[in-house]
Amino acid sequence: MRLVFLGAPGAGKGTQAQRLAAQEQIPHVSTGEILRESVKRGTPLGLQAKGYMDAGKLVPDEVVIGLVREKLTSPECARGYILDGFPRTVAQAEALDRIFRETGSPGLDHVISFDVPQDEIVRRLSGRRSCSRCQTVYHIEHDPPKEEGVCDKCGGTLVQRADDKPETVLARLRVFDQQTRPLVEYYQKRGLLQRVDATGSIDQVYARLLALVHATRMA
Ligand code: AP5
Repeated sequence: MRLVFLGAPGAGKGTQAQRLAAQEQIPHVSTGEILRESVKRGTPLGLQAKGYMDAGKLVPDEVVIGLVREKLTSPECARGYILDGFPRTVAQAEALDRIFRETGSPGLDHVISFDVPQDEIVRRLSGRRSCSRCQTVYHIEHDPPKEEGVCDKCGGTLVQRADDKPETVLARLRVFDQQTRPLVEYYQKRGLLQRVDATGSIDQVYARLLALVHATRMA
């Protein structure tokens, strides 16, 4: 199964991708996670990306396309994957189509758009905490850890992302509207787009997502 999860910052893409990837035993490929890890380790990629990420802007296409190409052509992605946060511009979507042509891949099965109103997005992002060690995502109200500030899975410390400050969130939402929303039409035209109502609890959204994935598998 080769899926793209599309949606505004905070729509819940990462939360749902973590669950579905574990259930399907396929990798969850999050460009945001890969970039944050590179920033943390101070790699050349991280040094290049940090300023853009802190400002809520997109990292240049050629940088992100290169890292996705490397990931998708690695053996771990041979059985499928969930791409979370890529593509984010029309140029990235076109580059993905090129990667499929060059590698003889059958391409995407579906692009799933997670639809949530903006006021809910702001609530979700302001309460988000992530594990500094294994990156598991929590929410202080909707999905809290058993012990405050400590990751259930690995005992790591939970931190707030630098780009979840209110002013950066607004910048990221603007970037989404201008540069990423056009992908809804891009994939609709290609017959790949599926929409999920991403309001309600995490379990409710996951149930809708599973129903959609099963229905499209049977089709
Ligand atoms: P990235 O990490 O991809 O951030 P994003 O797209 O802004 O998405 P988020 O991770 O903020 O949100 P999400 O939808 O995954 O929500 P989550 O599940 O965490 O990118 C970060 C930066 O990296 C970008 O700004 C850019 O600079 C750069 N970048 C990345 N990819 C790039 C690319 N392709 N090109 C260029 N630059 C790129 O949920 C949010 C919170 O809500 C959590 O606390 C969660 O617990 C909670 N929650 C989730 N679902 C629910 C629910 N149903 N009810 C209540 N709470 C919920």
